[in-house]
Amino acid sequence: MPDPLQTDAAQTGALYDELLDVALEAAHRAGVLLRDGRPADLGVAATKSSPIDVVTEMDLASEKLITGFIGERRPDDGFLGEEGASSTGTSGIRWVIDPIDGTVNYLYGLPSWAVSIAAEQDGEVVVGVVAAPMRGETYRAVLGRGAFSNDEPVHHRPAPPELSQALLGTGFGYLVERRAAQAEVVRTLLPRVRDIRRGGSAAIDLCDVACGRLDAYYERGLNPWDLAAGALIAREAGALTGGRPGRSASHELTLAASPALFEQLQPLLDELGAWHD
Ligand code: IPD
Ligand code: CA
Repeated sequence: MPDPLQTDAAQTGALYDELLDVALEAAHRAGVLLRDGRPADLGVAATKSSPIDVVTEMDLASEKLITGFIGERRPDDGFLGEEGASSTGTSGIRWVIDPIDGTVNYLYGLPSWAVSIAAEQDGEVVVGVVAAPMRGETYRAVLGRGAFSNDEPVHHRPAPPELSQALLGTGFGYLVERRAAQAEVVRTLLPRVRDIRRGGSAAIDLCDVACGRLDAYYERGLNPWDLAAGALIAREAGALTGGRPGRSASHELTLAASPALFEQLQPLLDELGAWHD
């Protein structure tokens, strides 16, 4: 008689394989659309939380392509997308989608933008894919199976011996009051670290921690679609992710870093008030 535990594990493995396959294909298709189909005169189609929080026609086209493709392959799944996709589904799987992370970079023709697609099973992220077409790189992770850039395994950077040698990434929200508070945190941190980068795509920042291109990344105000895929990729690369002490990465605060640096940065960011406006 087959061992029921082994059968369960095999079924879970096959499900994750399928979800990864669907996410990679959807991210690839959207990446090609965005890279090859960007209109030379691309403009702002609408604004959201503030006049600088923009949406382009390509954000909308990318989300439509992704949800259309996934919906055909897995009709019973739910969706949460930055541009409005929202449904519960009946399978226990929900797709969390950022059709362009780094929309302002994309608008200006800067290369740091990505398509971010995560699959949650009963609320837990089990698959994450971040495609960065202008880098020629796609990052991916499946829960418990490590993280990869294209087909190469990736690992976080060893923690620097001192905080003063750490290269941090961060980002700023679209609301004026939030930015003012974020600037105060940067003002205190900048003299205490090697340097701070503001790349413009949270998903890529998290993957840069995974690949050892940043020692750490933190930001307040992220939405689930900004962080779902990238945070799994960072964790599967051996980094820790979290928010305020004892909390998970969230809108309030997201931090990703190698374990030793995480232990130093988490209380420091808490003390500096990186979690409030
Ligand atoms: C933004 C980017 C940016 C981060 C903002 C996000 P969007 O996402 O990830 O790096 O600083 O907090 O909102 O608007 O380009 O999808
Ligand atoms: Ca985003």
